[in-house]
Amino acid sequence: MYPHNSDWQNMQVYFDAFTEISQQFFDRLDDETVAKLKVDLKPQALSDSGLDFSEVVERLKQQVIPQLSAARGPRYWGFVTGGATPIATFADWLVATFDQNVHKAGDSVASLIELQAIEWLCELFELPKTFQGLMTTGATASNFLAACCARQFAGLKQGINVAQQGVYGLDVDIFSTTPHASMCKSLGMSGLGQKQFHPIKALPDSEAMDVNDLAFCLSQSTAKAKIVIASAGTVTTTDFDDLAAVASICQKFGAWLHVDAAFGLFERVVMGTEGKTKGIEKAHSITLDCHKWLNVPYDCGVFLTQHRDLLEQSFDLPAPYLANESTTPDFMSLGVENSRRFRALPVWLSLLAYGKQSVKDWVESNINLAKQLADWIDDSDDYELVHPCQMNVILFRPTAKGLSQSQMDQKTKALLKKINTDGRLFLSPGIWQGQEIIRIALSNWQTQQQDIEVAIQVLKDCI
Ligand SMILES: Cc1ncc(COP(=O)(O)O)c(C=O)c1O
Repeated sequence: MYPHNSDWQNMQVYFDAFTEISQQFFDRLDDETVAKLKVDLKPQALSDSGLDFSEVVERLKQQVIPQLSAARGPRYWGFVTGGATPIATFADWLVATFDQNVHKAGDSVASLIELQAIEWLCELFELPKTFQGLMTTGATASNFLAACCARQFAGLKQGINVAQQGVYGLDVDIFSTTPHASMCKSLGMSGLGQKQFHPIKALPDSEAMDVNDLAFCLSQSTAKAKIVIASAGTVTTTDFDDLAAVASICQKFGAWLHVDAAFGLFERVVMGTEGKTKGIEKAHSITLDCHKWLNVPYDCGVFLTQHRDLLEQSFDLPAPYLANESTTPDFMSLGVENSRRFRALPVWLSLLAYGKQSVKDWVESNINLAKQLADWIDDSDDYELVHPCQMNVILFRPTAKGLSQSQMDQKTKALLKKINTDGRLFLSPGIWQGQEIIRIALSNWQTQQQDIEVAIQVLKDCI
């Protein structure tokens, strides 16, 4: 006998509740307050024998659903946030239904689906077939794999197998200009040290690397191994390092090149191989996020490398109970987790259903809408565009003539709070050249012209 809530014969009850809850949630996305700034969950005792399903649904309706954000909706513009498409959402529901553990090949097709999803992504981004990789929980996890591969490369250059022996005695210099915070975290987690990178100068009014300074610093480095961490789309200004130049400098000095292209790689779908990502195909490794512009549900990142052997050396875990005879790679030997969800399925089904063209349309539309809103801000007497909008991110603040820096920062913070409290938009803060700014990032496939008009109205109302 199953205990209550465990009767598969009764699945229709769950389907009904699921359909009702999902439909109501989707229907409200447009008029709902985008972010719930004040939430509350009273302490409640853990149930001893469990509640009836009807009671469980009631709790969900009262305590959870009204307090969720509309992050998947068209006007959640904080951070870099995608919103799951219908097909990706459907696929993710099925991930729970199928409940596969994509750790080893040999018991289902799930590993082959992950392999094919990675191949399709390489095709989408016109990357050489020499790139291989795996799905991760996000760009942070991918940057961690990048740090581990680079660390292994550095070790092998000086006769140290870091995965086996550790980083003790490793002689390595790391260079970067504007690494994402998650990259610094990853350097820390890998034992290389969050602060152990040499800052390369940025170009004027930019977060992009000054490649002349990179060449100079590499030429001065006497370390036995060198690692360069480049950016394809910095999170604040969306600047791209000149990757073709960076790659050739790295080649000259025998340096490992990792590129964090969490959302910037999508520019390649629009502009092709001669756009801002030109040269990325020469990187040793690349970080990408699918829960950003591919609009699949959280969580889904990708790590790509042309040196899978270094991943294997770093993450392989031989254990007798895990042995099998399959020739398909074991994903648990390429990344952090042994047990892994079937997160490739939403990517695979999305690419199958939407094809290259839809991805291109989403990216192009977001970029065009962002430019339009940036132009309105630039023309407004009440606001100042603090940096040209180059892609999907807008950086601005209220005009503050005659105010001191700290008064200006206070005014900007107060305005951001007012906008987010108003509820028609959700934006996030940032710092540019030492000053508080407000940041808008468009990466949701559903954002349309009418949302830009709502935003303009909010900016008029909140000043
Ligand atoms: C360039 C870059 N790298 C890394 C990350 C971290 O991504 P995740 O939240 O998926 O770990 C982000 C997130 O916005 C990003 O923009």
